[in-house]
Amino acid sequence: MTYLLGLRLQGRDVLVVGGGRVAQRRVPVLLDAGARVTVVSPHVTTALQGLAESGRVRWERRAYRPGDVTGLGRFWLVHAATDSAEVNAAVTAEAEAARIWSVRADERHSSSAWTPATGSASGITVGVIAGGAPRRAAGLRDAIVDGLADGTLDARRGRAPMRGVALVGGGPGDPGLITVRGRQLLAQADVVVVDRLAPTGLLDQLPGEVEVIDAAKIPYGRSMSQESINEVLVDRARQGKFVVRLKGGDSFLFGRGGEEVAACVAAGVPVTVVPGVTSALAAPASAGIPVTHRGVAQHLHIVSAHVPPGDERSTVDWAALARSGGTIVVLMGVERIGRIASALVEYGRDPRTPIAVVQDATLPTQTTLVATLETVEEAAQEAGVRHPAVLVIGEVVDTARELDILPRGQNTAEVPTAPVRGAGPE
Ligand SMILES: C[S@@+](CC[C@H](N)C(=O)[O-])C[C@H]1O[C@@H](n2cnc3c(N)ncnc32)[C@H](O)[C@@H]1O
Repeated sequence: MTYLLGLRLQGRDVLVVGGGRVAQRRVPVLLDAGARVTVVSPHVTTALQGLAESGRVRWERRAYRPGDVTGLGRFWLVHAATDSAEVNAAVTAEAEAARIWSVRADERHSSSAWTPATGSASGITVGVIAGGAPRRAAGLRDAIVDGLADGTLDARRGRAPMRGVALVGGGPGDPGLITVRGRQLLAQADVVVVDRLAPTGLLDQLPGEVEVIDAAKIPYGRSMSQESINEVLVDRARQGKFVVRLKGGDSFLFGRGGEEVAACVAAGVPVTVVPGVTSALAAPASAGIPVTHRGVAQHLHIVSAHVPPGDERSTVDWAALARSGGTIVVLMGVERIGRIASALVEYGRDPRTPIAVVQDATLPTQTTLVATLETVEEAAQEAGVRHPAVLVIGEVVDTARELDILPRGQNTAEVPTAPVRGAGPE
């Protein structure tokens, strides 16, 4: 049995004998805890040398000599971490005689102290000692730290109850693409108001008592849908519940997040915003398209096409976009793909400009269709492309093909396109 302590090493001296991999792992942790570290070793790793050169550790550049444990300083803790069992034994024996705790890297039975597998998350430090089985300890430590980090472990106990509303950008759909902070808040929610394009796969993990409200199904009554959503957020928060508004991508990119924040602020409800991975960037990335590949595109335009080019409600300058030559990423455009492509061509963009349509980005059903502005309408119809999809227009689509990083396989419906800049169809 061991007696687990948390050593408060701030300003206290610690001796590390040895300068190899073990010392390299231990020293930064000791420094993080505020210890003053002396390393005794004729050679050290490059990382330790860097710490010595920057003055963060004191380095005695020589082999250990009997008497160092008591002679080099007033140490509270000693680490014996050389590759010589003999030296390590001498160091720990000297520490033992001086009643200083010592950790021997190579032989735990001769150590007076063991180092637990440690980690921290959410301001909590975890130490695990698994009866001398370091791998098991490390595995358990990882599980606990992961659980703390993503909020799934002990989210409902030991924390001050949350209040108000959190607008959480849930990412493009893959449950792994929500942020750690978003996941933590979701795990603490009393109420979750969720969009269709949010990572709904995460909802299964919520405890049964959490109220899950599908934003698309909120009855509108006399108000508009967005107003009804705002009302639900404010209403539940006023009941003292912690509300997570789980949205697709990033809440502020064509997500009406600003309106929801404003409604909370107007109602005096505390509100916090957690940024999300937007589909505007995740869709091309998950299709292997580097949207600003060096030497190909120096600018990127993210456009909503919820109203088509030419529509009087559209405020998008399609003529300027056509001239710009940069990469254009279009959201909410799949139903208007033909009109978008022809507007760009009409305003002067080369009809052979490549376009990728990434549907269900980051989900197991993701597909990528590649065409040109002049062929895309027909190709999309033929392939049955549907919402949700992101259009990526520009030479970077060709770059992805040239670099051979467009995903392939059964989920990728890549349509051969008309030749682009001399490159033939694949
Ligand atoms: C109302 S906008 C919301 C965008 C969201 N706020 C974001 O940052 O990703 C909806 C559009 O996002 C795009 N979209 C969202 N998730 C997607 C996904 N998984 N795959 C492809 N497109 C997606 C589609 O263009 C869809 O029409």
